[in-house]
Amino acid sequence: MREGQNVIYRADYQPPAYWIDTVELCFDLDPAKTRVLNRMKLRRNAQMPAQPLRLDGEELNLARVLVNGQGTSFKMENGQLVLENLPAGDEPFELEIFSTCAPAKNTTLSGLYTSGDSFFTQCEAEGFRRITYFLDRPDVMASYTVLIRADKARYPVLLSNGNLVDQGELDDGRHFAKWVDPHRKPSYLFALVAGQLVAREQRITSRAGKEHLLQVYVRPGDLDKTEHAMNSLMASVAWDEARFGLPLDLERFMIVATSDFNMGAMENKGLNIFNTKYVLASQATATDTDFFNIESVVGHEYFHNWTGNRITCRDWFQLSLKEGLTVFRDQEFSMDLAGEASARAVKRIEDVRVLRTMQFPEDAGPMAHPVRPEQYLEINNFYTVTVYEKGAEVVRMMQTLVGREGFRRGMDQYFQRHDGQAVTCDDFSQAIADANPGSRLAQTLEQFRRWYSQAGTPRVKAEGRWDADSGIYSLTLSQSCPPTPDQPAKDPFVIPIGLGLISGGVEIANGMHVLTEQSETLTFPGLQSEPVPSILRGFSAPVVLEFDYPDEQLLALLAHDADPFNRWEAGQRLALGRALAYLRTPGLARSDIRLDAPFVEAMRGILRHPTLDPAFKELVLTLPAETYISEQLDTVDPQRVHMVRDAMREQLAQALFHDWEWAFEQHRENGAYRPDPRSSGRRALAGLSLMHLCIAARKSGDTVWPGKTLQRFKDASNMTDRFNALTALVVSGHELAAPALARFHATFQDDALVLDKWFALQAGAPDRGGNILPIVKQLMNHPDFNIRNPNRARSLIFSYCNANPGAFHRPDAAGYVFWSERVTELDAFNPQVAARLARALDRWKKLEEPLRSAAREAIARVAAKPDLSNDVREVVTRALA
Ligand code: ARG
Ligand code: ZN
Repeated sequence: MREGQNVIYRADYQPPAYWIDTVELCFDLDPAKTRVLNRMKLRRNAQMPAQPLRLDGEELNLARVLVNGQGTSFKMENGQLVLENLPAGDEPFELEIFSTCAPAKNTTLSGLYTSGDSFFTQCEAEGFRRITYFLDRPDVMASYTVLIRADKARYPVLLSNGNLVDQGELDDGRHFAKWVDPHRKPSYLFALVAGQLVAREQRITSRAGKEHLLQVYVRPGDLDKTEHAMNSLMASVAWDEARFGLPLDLERFMIVATSDFNMGAMENKGLNIFNTKYVLASQATATDTDFFNIESVVGHEYFHNWTGNRITCRDWFQLSLKEGLTVFRDQEFSMDLAGEASARAVKRIEDVRVLRTMQFPEDAGPMAHPVRPEQYLEINNFYTVTVYEKGAEVVRMMQTLVGREGFRRGMDQYFQRHDGQAVTCDDFSQAIADANPGSRLAQTLEQFRRWYSQAGTPRVKAEGRWDADSGIYSLTLSQSCPPTPDQPAKDPFVIPIGLGLISGGVEIANGMHVLTEQSETLTFPGLQSEPVPSILRGFSAPVVLEFDYPDEQLLALLAHDADPFNRWEAGQRLALGRALAYLRTPGLARSDIRLDAPFVEAMRGILRHPTLDPAFKELVLTLPAETYISEQLDTVDPQRVHMVRDAMREQLAQALFHDWEWAFEQHRENGAYRPDPRSSGRRALAGLSLMHLCIAARKSGDTVWPGKTLQRFKDASNMTDRFNALTALVVSGHELAAPALARFHATFQDDALVLDKWFALQAGAPDRGGNILPIVKQLMNHPDFNIRNPNRARSLIFSYCNANPGAFHRPDAAGYVFWSERVTELDAFNPQVAARLARALDRWKKLEEPLRSAAREAIARVAAKPDLSNDVREVVTRALA
């Protein structure tokens, strides 16, 4: 990618040549042609050599440019508006720009666009330049005043950031609203919304006694689905004040939901815009997972108000400064709300599962990049699991190294130093370290920062040695990190390693070792017998731990480890070891897959355990994901991986049949619906049980459990139970699945978010003789399918290409052909969504032939298309490199 002419490098950062102090925007909203008058006060940045002013702009029709009220000469260069004849000297000057744009034609969902009959904006990262000419970069922070004018009947609600200072009537049935944001902000945090919306409102009083108005805006029919989002928002406000001393700094905080949105949500100052998926919920239409996701995303966007908005990024290479930190904060928020230790552990395991099934593959593939990338062609391609989830792990390690209170001191220091500024990842780690002199972080800061600069997942190899004569156990820890694009060799990382020793079922040691050298040996003297090491407790660092655990040790950890993460991990390792052994057996047939008694008994022991949390049981009884298994292999046949996992699951279904029956009966009733960790854990285990019962029934020909499952599907009082039952029928491939799917569609055809689930379930179902691709193609022609709606496109196309490897990686390459056609189709109107889909073949080099060649060909076909967006071009070029 180095040769590319449009590549942006971190090393090239220059401060802006001008500052923009104030912006007055006036919008005349019209879907076909919206007029934008932009009046700015600018001044030269005295630190920079004199140079022309270059303003970013995209897809704008420029009508007029005035400097201090006078016409001026200007030119266009690389899409930028260039002004050379500006007043000399350092005096501020006024720049007035009048332009128009076409929101209804804006299918990219970046900038100002229409969804249904409403207007929305999305400006991060570089959408503001599609609204007006501007220094569209995060280190230029200005005060905004926004006047919106629009037809009153069509657009009764007019919103922007900050406070509503004026509103009133105009001629011709139009009206206006004027908003002033009391906080300076970068352009990516600007927002505007107009349409027929209604709001749930809540007044709250902060700890300091200040009054605030919270509002959640939705379409009129959706108001009854906003209670959970509002509760989540109130919990977020209270949590940030309690845990970090960060109060709400606005009189009014608004969330608005739209059904057309590229991502999850956006933290625009005081006016968050959300994908409806992360706002709307009722027990009849949303699953427990939906409820938890809403809580976490509402929290995430709210926490950005301080980590992102009050202190923002100097440039987009620093994206993890706000995203890694804010994901860490939303994870902590969810854990604190979960309460009990076992519920916290469940959340931690879920987060690690996301990291390992999504981020580890990214870090091992062609798009691998450091948490703070060095270069990009299109910044939207770097809103990644690495920047977000690995970035959060890096912040978590800082907290581990300085302690929870030390981390709070560090955050205080960060805000004292940098409030109101645009800063870097180094500024953040410096503040945390400086607030904790003498800490392991402060001692190792330079080395610790390699987590920001070096890509790839480090591997820690552990080797134990037991000397019975001396009673000394020694553990050697060695680290390495595989090469990644542009980084052939890596220096050692600072790796906090949670470590316990268990002897005779009793924990005899528990602590944290900070590995800084390439290799270190720890010794534990005075032991009676060989201990079982519990390494990387709590998943204390985002690394792969290699340790040749004998089965007895894993069984001991699964039975006794006091660390719930490693207890779960022991079960995963047992399952993974078996899956890999099968996969390495040449000529393996499905019927050769026979799970051994010790493994089955261990799983039974967990399922029947008298005191373990049902949510935890559900995690242990779920086999490692196909993508996670595949990552452990040098070459992959995804259909074979699917076959092995599917057969293992079938064996667990049969061998534990009566235990699943018991588990279902024990956990099926949960009283009045509440999406709390305890009752959702019970529903999850009941759902998993039902799935196994249906799978076992498929094998044995039993019709009782499929019948009961259909009944439960019909009778369920909430979407979680209903959808779990439907999933059990679909996944087990029972003939009752078809009528159930039809009934589900008929019941929920007016609810877009539920229909998304309906599409996703079918596209993600286990492949039987290549049946899924034809189903997907058929569903593309379903009257409810609309590729222009990102949620719907994701629910069908992504569920197939990204989340169903066994069905997608067909020997006839038809899945790849479908993929390449959809990438180019999407790219023509929404490059961001297309580029996400383009990443489905990231790991093509690992595929076994003939899949590998077929995948390469499909990528090359996309790459050869003329007029590709930068977004897709960057992804496919890297893939082929
Ligand atoms: N800052 C938003 C969030 O993390 C995500 C916005 C991403 N937008 C984009 N176009 N890449 O909540
Ligand atoms: Zn974010």
